[in-house]
Amino acid sequence: MPEVRPAVLRMAPYSPPTGGRADKLRLDFNENTVGCSPEVIEFLKQQLSAGSLSVYPEYMEARRELSAFFQVAEDEILFTNGTDEAIQVLVNTYVDDDQEVLILTPSYAMYRFYSEVAGAAVREIPYREGTLEFPLDELLGAITPATKAILIANPNNPTGTGIGLDAVRSILQKAPHAAVLIDEAYYEFSGVTALPHIAQYPNLFVSRTFSKVYGMAAMRFGCLFSQSANVAYLHKAQSPYSVNTLAALAARAAIRDTVYVSNYVNEVLAARDLARQGLERLGIHAYPSEANFILFEAGARSIPIRDELRRRGVLIRDRSYEIAGCVRVTIGTRDQVRCFLTELESLW
Ligand SMILES: Cc1ncc(COP(=O)(O)O)c(C=O)c1O
Repeated sequence: MPEVRPAVLRMAPYSPPTGGRADKLRLDFNENTVGCSPEVIEFLKQQLSAGSLSVYPEYMEARRELSAFFQVAEDEILFTNGTDEAIQVLVNTYVDDDQEVLILTPSYAMYRFYSEVAGAAVREIPYREGTLEFPLDELLGAITPATKAILIANPNNPTGTGIGLDAVRSILQKAPHAAVLIDEAYYEFSGVTALPHIAQYPNLFVSRTFSKVYGMAAMRFGCLFSQSANVAYLHKAQSPYSVNTLAALAARAAIRDTVYVSNYVNEVLAARDLARQGLERLGIHAYPSEANFILFEAGARSIPIRDELRRRGVLIRDRSYEIAGCVRVTIGTRDQVRCFLTELESLW
């Protein structure tokens, strides 16, 4: 048997519960719960042919259209196989064996995952106990010249809490030699973005995904933005064809249908209010959320509640392994929230 790298041996296996979800109300992975714009499907059908599948991906049109949409230069954008690959490429570009990566906890699991695969030394800063507020002072205090990367989700998953641009700027200023990732997977729901700041901060990297509001999680498409000199290095650490042709086509169609996206965002924001009120009515403590999900306290019954909801066809995600007693519910449409609340109320 070949010898496995110590970094991989040390890792805990990570296998999110992705099986058997198709016939259920999927409020467990923060996806778009109604699917992508019909224009995406139409465009894919038009473009799909034996010829188009036989050619290695070309990204020229996608690069032109997406950079215009995001208002960056063409060489300030890197297409990635989901945000996950953006995290991987960033870590592989800037962090060597045993070098330090700062992450917050709890946060998106893939920050630790890719840092550990790379053999980095991961240092965790916990969210404030009780309020789950962003620990800005603690993070600023932990940054040293040895910090090679800082990986932050804004808004954060699973807490739902976000930080403002003042906090982002103070982190960038405190860590001029580190690659600072602001992962804006849920940007469309929060409206806070550091993207315009890439011009000013050479240590800033911003990621966006098409897995959430755009309803294309299966496609695996994301963008990583930074100054062009950084993007040139990121390209060196990325496989040239990791984004497939269909994903790049789908992204081009997705950004054209801005009405579809803004309608979905408005629906989710209304549904989030409804969910908050419903949880409050049941006396359940929920954390404030700037994203398309809410973290709430189900106490000692968090796992039985998740399991019973699953039996009734509603999937939510247990987070009690990282915040005692907490579960997370994805917010979709108001009708879906009503369905979730009805089932929750009947077993609460
Ligand atoms: C903060 C955050 N970033 C990234 C992702 C995943 O993005 P992608 O599907 O683009 O890899 C998630 C998904 O849950 C997330 O919560």
